[in-house]
Amino acid sequence: MDPNDTIRQAFADAGQEQVFRFWGELNADQRQRLVSQAKSIDLDEVARLHRELIAGANSDGSAATGDQLIEPAPWIAVPSGDDRFRDWQQAKVRGEEAILAGRVAAFTVAGGQGTRLGFDGPKGAFPVTPVTGKPLFQVFAEKLRATERRYGHPVGWWIMTSDLNHEATVKLFAEHYHFGLDPQQVRMFRQGLMPAVDHAGKILLAAKDQIAMSPDGHGGSLRALVRSGAVEAMRERGIDLLSYFQVDNPLVRCVDPEFIGFHLLRGSEMSSKAVLKTDPAEKVGVFAQVDGVLQVVEYSDLRDDLAAARDDDGGLRFRAGNIAIHVLNLDLVARLGGSDDPAERLPFHRADKKVPCLDDSGRLVEPDQPNAVKFEMFVFDALTFARNPLVVETPREREFSPVKNATGSDSPETSKADQLRQFARWFRAAGLEMPVDQTGLPDMPVEVSPLFADSMESFQQHWRALVSPPVLQPGMVLDEQ
Ligand code: UD1
Repeated sequence: MDPNDTIRQAFADAGQEQVFRFWGELNADQRQRLVSQAKSIDLDEVARLHRELIAGANSDGSAATGDQLIEPAPWIAVPSGDDRFRDWQQAKVRGEEAILAGRVAAFTVAGGQGTRLGFDGPKGAFPVTPVTGKPLFQVFAEKLRATERRYGHPVGWWIMTSDLNHEATVKLFAEHYHFGLDPQQVRMFRQGLMPAVDHAGKILLAAKDQIAMSPDGHGGSLRALVRSGAVEAMRERGIDLLSYFQVDNPLVRCVDPEFIGFHLLRGSEMSSKAVLKTDPAEKVGVFAQVDGVLQVVEYSDLRDDLAAARDDDGGLRFRAGNIAIHVLNLDLVARLGGSDDPAERLPFHRADKKVPCLDDSGRLVEPDQPNAVKFEMFVFDALTFARNPLVVETPREREFSPVKNATGSDSPETSKADQLRQFARWFRAAGLEMPVDQTGLPDMPVEVSPLFADSMESFQQHWRALVSPPVLQPGMVLDEQ
């Protein structure tokens, strides 16, 4: 029997024979391609997801908030008095010990398509800084180099890509000499893919020899970390903590001692950073306790009345916004990413999308309405599996200004302005004259490389140490000393 018959039979048995309906027209290479894609699909999983997320329920797999008790989650607030300041100092010491001991790796999820930004290439290649237009990946690389210089210890950096951008990402790093990092320090691996299905659960074809597949969500990072061997490689190096962040936010503190310190002091398996949400319509998920379980409720799932509800102090009741910065214990990653039991893995969510696909005659149809369902996992669902999950506040202006849309909110324009505001605060705190408008935006473009300073404190220190400080002028760039 032709070995390909086995897989074709398995698909037929699962009611997915349409995947091979153009088999007779394919040459040997095309058949090979289709078979290898087909082999990567877990048919039982697809059937289960169809049953649970499409056929049976109206649910998208998200935290249902209908009959459940939903309350704001507690969080550790930024310090305003001496007491809390002492807590933060203590956390910083504990976090620094872990970094010095080489226990922490940086981890970036960069497998997304960046459709909303409309940028042709990996999002990490997007020119994001206000004067020199450094790509996002370079900003992170320089922050990691600054951390390395501070602690005298290189921090390993793992980056999750996807089939959509892996080669382009590898090429970008090679062309830029890994942005000054030791190439051994940077590891990339691809996330998994999931087939798109129609509403009857039938797997769709993108071409006669190609299944319509798409990345399995940033939550797919947990199983990709296990399957790629990254978890094992980290263990061998003595790493047991992951500092997780998304590719879209140039303000992120890639490795933050205070955050890591709180995570360790509270014996947490997963901790998340929050910024205070002020606009009910802002598209960030919020940290909530749903029937007592801490989790993120996505912006699209939070009822409008809850999103707009206010506390006595006038602030939003659900104000702890998820900015997708987490610390995860490697053990938790291994447990959830390596489990075969669906009850011990991250759940899939359903996303209804327009997916170009072949019709029965083999013609490519470009739908104008959502015709398909994609399945994605969200990393923040790991909070519900974690021991002592924790939320720690960080000031928005210091750490969150993502690039998501081409224009409007969370766009290159808003992110550049927020970077400029941060630089202006640093200059002004160091006693320099830099006029700003009511929003803190300076009247001239300037840029500070993380290699010069990555915080207000380090800026003051390095500025004061300059033998002949440059004259402040539009377009000034402070770079590596
Ligand atoms: C996300 C969060 C939201 C949070 C906000 C903060 C989700 C569902 N929501 O929204 O709670 O408030 O960020 O900025 O995540 N990615 C992959 N592989 C994938 C899909 C995404 O690596 O398969 C990466 C992207 O490259 C990107 C990140 O995950 O770095 C965010 O994905 P995106 O879909 O843009 O999430 P948001 O809707 O912005």
